[in-house]
Amino acid sequence: MTIQTIKTTPYADQKPGTSGLRKRVPVFQQPNYLENFIQSIFDSLEGLGGKTLVIGGDGRFYNDVAIQKAIRIAAANGFGKVLVGQGGLLSTPAASNIIRHYKAFGGLVLSASHNPGGPEGDFGIKYNVSNGGPAPEKITDAIFARSKVIDSYKTLDTPDIDLSKIGTQKVGDMVVEVIDPVADYAALMQTLFDFDAIRGLFASGFTMTFDSLHAVTGPYAKAILEGILGAPAGTVKNGVPSPSFNDGHPDPNLVYCKDMYDLLMTPQGPDFGAASDGDGDRNLIIGKNRFVTPSDSLALLAANAHLAPGYKAGIAGIARSMPTSAAADRVAEKLGIEMHETPTGWKFFGNLLDVGRVTICGEESAGTGSNHVREKDGLWAVLLWLNILAVRKQSVDAIVREHWATYGRNYYTRHDYEEVDSAAANALVDDLRGQLAALPGQVLNGLEVAYADDFTYHDPVDGSTSAKQGIRIGFKDGSRIVLRLSGTGTVGATLRVYLERYEPADGQHDLDTQDALAPLIGITENLAAIKGRTGRNEPSVIT
Ligand code: G1P
Ligand code: ZN
Repeated sequence: MTIQTIKTTPYADQKPGTSGLRKRVPVFQQPNYLENFIQSIFDSLEGLGGKTLVIGGDGRFYNDVAIQKAIRIAAANGFGKVLVGQGGLLSTPAASNIIRHYKAFGGLVLSASHNPGGPEGDFGIKYNVSNGGPAPEKITDAIFARSKVIDSYKTLDTPDIDLSKIGTQKVGDMVVEVIDPVADYAALMQTLFDFDAIRGLFASGFTMTFDSLHAVTGPYAKAILEGILGAPAGTVKNGVPSPSFNDGHPDPNLVYCKDMYDLLMTPQGPDFGAASDGDGDRNLIIGKNRFVTPSDSLALLAANAHLAPGYKAGIAGIARSMPTSAAADRVAEKLGIEMHETPTGWKFFGNLLDVGRVTICGEESAGTGSNHVREKDGLWAVLLWLNILAVRKQSVDAIVREHWATYGRNYYTRHDYEEVDSAAANALVDDLRGQLAALPGQVLNGLEVAYADDFTYHDPVDGSTSAKQGIRIGFKDGSRIVLRLSGTGTVGATLRVYLERYEPADGQHDLDTQDALAPLIGITENLAAIKGRTGRNEPSVIT
């Protein structure tokens, strides 16, 4: 076995975004594109010789090809061992757990999350460090810098590994162990939740539907919900991972899960509906007659976490991404625990979790998780909800209403304008940024501006600073407008507008969300002129 050093030329566009490098599949299929990026990752790491690397993906198109390449490059670069999920599958939270559980050096997570898959769809690759979480900006910056000058990569001329067989094989001097993707994850969940109580809930006739959207959570949800917890067969829908997600869009929101939503709004529908995305880190929660916004879900889970054995001693603190509503802040205040506001993207939670300053984290984009791994975790959120429902013996709707009656309600929506012209989107943001200094004190649509800035995060653990993380316009009554460009889109720019209004505990909790936020929608249009600049009369997606 000789290590081959293959000459290559750099690509200019390998800058990792919010969550790793994400591009259309044909971009990844260009000669040496994937090889360059993986070698750039390995070149940016110190001390990987003889160490263990975890590799897994969400099963999307190109996953199989990429894994074989990654294994050869890992062997040629001196890793001692690769742990890979059977069939190349590992949900993102499961990959995070495997890295932590087996004390691996790091991991490659192959996924484009909730983006569509297939030959013309998206692919992605992300490096996670030894705490199981996405690499911090210091490392992703180094990877990008390396990718711009790379002139060769190392690989081996060895046959493909058989990913269908659990067990150990060898690639050059490196051991490749194909592992059960579900077992360790299921075992971890049993340490956190009262499985007996949840079993009892299902035994009492509680009904649920879980949509895996033809993506990676199928095997996990079937094993845990239908297998261990005794939910009836058929509870998990679309549970066989497909490389193209059955030509669907594996994003668990009210657009792509509209059928489930409609079903939950009928008397004959189940008591509880949930879904997860392509790689299993997002969650959608719908109770009978009650959609729970991800921001509310974060607040509710934090307020009730002590009902689950894994959190019975209470939680140390909560962190949320900046655009996420302030509902969780009110819970933290009441519990007297730390609350942190971080930039968008899970990587910013890692430090806070590592030092034990926060236990539960969440993002408005349907991501919630805890210190059990260093990624958001879709099934974890579903199981915590089930644990809470089993203990409180109330409906989701009743629990949500009680929460609002205690803490008040943060009406919240996000308007996305997808695939808009990048130059127009950048100009819009720049112009808005230019208006910020003059806004405080002004009264817009009857609301007085309290502050207006472009969010800068100072990491309290490592002292690093991340600037330009999104425009925030806050009002005296607690309302807020946030505007930022997506860092995960692969075509043009995606403009995200986040709107929030606080209604106190004794206020009106039954307004239509879009109606409740109409004044803020009007202010946003006046300030940013989205319609004129993007040529769009309405958002592509409202969540
Ligand atoms: C989006 C979400 C963000 C999430 C990320 C990865 O990023 O907004 O909360 O962490 O996907 O799932 P964006 O496209 O907004 O940069
Ligand atoms: Zn995801």
